[in-house]
Amino acid sequence: MSYTDLRDWIEQARALGEVRDVQGASWQEDIGRITEMLHHTDDSPAVLFDDIPGYPRGYRILANANATRKRLALTLGLPLDIDRRPLMDRFLEMTESGRAVAPRYVKDGPVFENVLKGDDIDILRFPSPKWHPLDGGRYLGTGVCDVLKDPDSDWVNIGTYRVMVQDSKSVSVYISPGKHGRQFRDKYFSRHEPCPVAVVCGVEPLLFVASSLEVPQGVSEYDWAGGIRGEPYEVVTDPITGLPIPARAEIVLVGFLRDDHRRPEGPFGEWTGYYASGERDEPVLDVQAVYHRNDPIILGVPPNKPPYEPHRYREYLRSALLLREMKAAGVPGVVDAHCFGVGGCRLLLAVSIQQRFAGHARQAAHIASMCRVGAYLGRMVVVVDEDIDVTDINDVMWAVLTRSDPERSLDIIHRAWSGPLDPAIRPDLKGFNSRLLIDATKPWEWRDKFPVAIGPDAETKRETRKKWGWILQAGGDARADEPAPAVARARGAATPAD
Ligand SMILES: Cc1cc2nc3c(=O)[nH]c(=O)nc-3n(C[C@H](O)[C@H](O)[C@H](O)COP(=O)(O)O)c2cc1C
Repeated sequence: MSYTDLRDWIEQARALGEVRDVQGASWQEDIGRITEMLHHTDDSPAVLFDDIPGYPRGYRILANANATRKRLALTLGLPLDIDRRPLMDRFLEMTESGRAVAPRYVKDGPVFENVLKGDDIDILRFPSPKWHPLDGGRYLGTGVCDVLKDPDSDWVNIGTYRVMVQDSKSVSVYISPGKHGRQFRDKYFSRHEPCPVAVVCGVEPLLFVASSLEVPQGVSEYDWAGGIRGEPYEVVTDPITGLPIPARAEIVLVGFLRDDHRRPEGPFGEWTGYYASGERDEPVLDVQAVYHRNDPIILGVPPNKPPYEPHRYREYLRSALLLREMKAAGVPGVVDAHCFGVGGCRLLLAVSIQQRFAGHARQAAHIASMCRVGAYLGRMVVVVDEDIDVTDINDVMWAVLTRSDPERSLDIIHRAWSGPLDPAIRPDLKGFNSRLLIDATKPWEWRDKFPVAIGPDAETKRETRKKWGWILQAGGDARADEPAPAVARARGAATPAD
């Protein structure tokens, strides 16, 4: 891995021409608006906001870090021009269980350049943005890694759970029901104990990617991301909570969540594209200490209407994990899988299979819907034959519309895992949702009699484009006495490109 921390990652991305510096954008409005624009523009750069009015120069925010495949490749330490499927395959190799690398505990690190305790604690010293106009507060933690430990074992879990500033000395942490951090938190609360948490608000993008992905139960994201790095993460033990925190993190708040200390949290613009969970009372972190580097950088990943930044890279990574989980569950003949960005990589999943037996498509649909990657807040799973490109929404919908027949092709799963963020569920009924499974494969019993599909296979398409693709180029209608290169090539003239 070529970078050591967030600053180093930024410099490497900058050397590739992938970073824009923006001065003078306000935390109240500009930063959120610019970030929304970046999230919804293909190939947009990462942006480093500095000189934020009201804050010292150097107190910065990085947005849109992993929005392109090139920058994701930088984050994962892969060739920058890597294609989709090799990226997914390499990612799966790097996250095989045997590859995990435990963190290395060191005594000190740049994170302790500034240590604030007692009266010196002031969370408002950081330029937390109001990311969306109707947010109920300023969110310091969006590209955040929250470190929690299972009270019954050594399992240290890191999850991205949003962090809203309550006042200069406290923040609230929102964790959806069922998430690992929520299970830990609820164990402490059921024993009437406070729950120790370290909120890490600026860390290199790989640990953030791990923190916000479905890392297997019982596996620490430190070990998992260490496996991708091929070397241990350096962590220091926080003397207050005993939790390991990244030695080179930018900002860390440590303290304890208490069941009996709750304050309103939200509304917040969420990944479904709505302020769906509204305002609820959530536990408050009484911050006992703030650690930060000089001139700290907040990693900003505010949710926006899908697809937004994380969906641009989770399309690869969650799809890869889905492939692995389907295979691990014993579903044979799985060819490809895709978690569509338009559904936040959760609401719409497609899996292609080479059908091997009656009932195979239903098996694939149910497993995709209920495995770890698919279980939380899904909506639809579509299973298609192997000739369908699962990454192409038109191809997938064409299969749905032409190979499925509602009376035989649909299943509904009831009372599945959802939560407060689900916009389609009535506010007083949130918790469960249902799933639609669509078998869009050719019906097994008469697959041999299924109409033959029009259209060339992939190889024929490639050949046609190679031979006739020049027709698509602008300039093909150039004057006969001055042929455009494409026209000249079609007429058999040699061109330098040949
Ligand atoms: C930008 C971003 C923000 C997120 N915010 C939250 C959140 O506020 N609460 C939550 O429970 N999950 C949130 N998630 C999803 C979790 O991080 C994700 O489900 C992760 O797998 C949780 O870790 P766990 O599986 O160890 O519980 C967010 C994900 C992203 C990418």
